[in-house]
Amino acid sequence: MDLRISDDVVLAAEKLIAGHIVAFPTETVYGLGADASNPDAVRRVYDAKNRPHDHPLIVHVGSVDLVSQFAMNIPDIALSLAEKFWPGPLTLVLQKTDKVSDTVTGGQDTVAIRIPNHPVALSLLNKVGRGVVGPSANKFGRLSPTRVQDVAKEFNEEVSFILNGGPCHVGIESTIIGFEGDAPVVLRPGMITADQVSLATGRPVKLAGLDAPRVPGALPAHYAPRTKLMVLPRDELVVFYRDNLKQKKLGVVMLSPEPIELMDDNLISAPNDAASYATLLYKTLRSLDLMRLDLILVEAVPSESEWDGIRDRLTRAARGS
Ligand code: TXA
Ligand code: MG
Repeated sequence: MDLRISDDVVLAAEKLIAGHIVAFPTETVYGLGADASNPDAVRRVYDAKNRPHDHPLIVHVGSVDLVSQFAMNIPDIALSLAEKFWPGPLTLVLQKTDKVSDTVTGGQDTVAIRIPNHPVALSLLNKVGRGVVGPSANKFGRLSPTRVQDVAKEFNEEVSFILNGGPCHVGIESTIIGFEGDAPVVLRPGMITADQVSLATGRPVKLAGLDAPRVPGALPAHYAPRTKLMVLPRDELVVFYRDNLKQKKLGVVMLSPEPIELMDDNLISAPNDAASYATLLYKTLRSLDLMRLDLILVEAVPSESEWDGIRDRLTRAARGS
């Protein structure tokens, strides 16, 4: 089967409706799409990713009108969040309807739903007119792809059609919010912050934390490059770098402006605002991963909540590498 990278949204929609899998762009990362109402197609998505079948998928829809097919008893605070942040990098975990198959939810009684904010994704979803499952278009446990070429490298014959939408501008996966009674719970941090969720709902927000098993199959180590990765505060990183420079081939990611003494071929100067940092994060880690380094050193990011999603991915990358 030949791989086709295409701008043809109509063809992509036809393929999804016919039960094929199609990689598609969103503003966060590329997703691996299949018709959520077709369990065989959804199974092919799990298989293409080598993903455990109890690890549930996000259903993407093009408009709020479709949400009631998948979710019921939606809390008012979820409606406020949908109103405020959709389309956008926010996923809501809601009570599922009978229409949602266990293949999608891994047998849970909840379903994760999102309206992505990307013109190509919205056009695709509106042409399909159905829910489309969309896990990130990478092998299970690896870095999510933010460029069409990253998707193409990730798969062989498992994926034959990639809809091109250019580079993803958010760069890390959506914030996932669940609900415990009246309280929103951050199940996965992202670029929509806990503070923004709290402000939009008027409620304090619970944080599930790195070790809280969100769902069966949600592993603390995830989003990992192949090269070992360590996160260190700037001072410690500089000391470690000097001590290990002779023995090891090191890659370094530091927030700009970086200290002059570390100027080096393998030093990547990362933006010091969270949004730009997130846009480049996976692309940066992928390029370092290709350099046959012994170790990637990443400067710890600031403690403000706008960095929570980035800190979470870096911590998981360090654990998983
Ligand atoms: O930005 C994103 O969310 C991207 C783009 C493509 O939309 N998608 C994505 O999907 O990151 P995936 O499958 O890589 O991550 C989905 C996460 C998983 O960690 C899964 O555990 C969680 O969503 N999830 C899905 N359904 C859930 C549910 N019913 N309850 C709790 N967590 C759920
Ligand atoms: Mg993923």
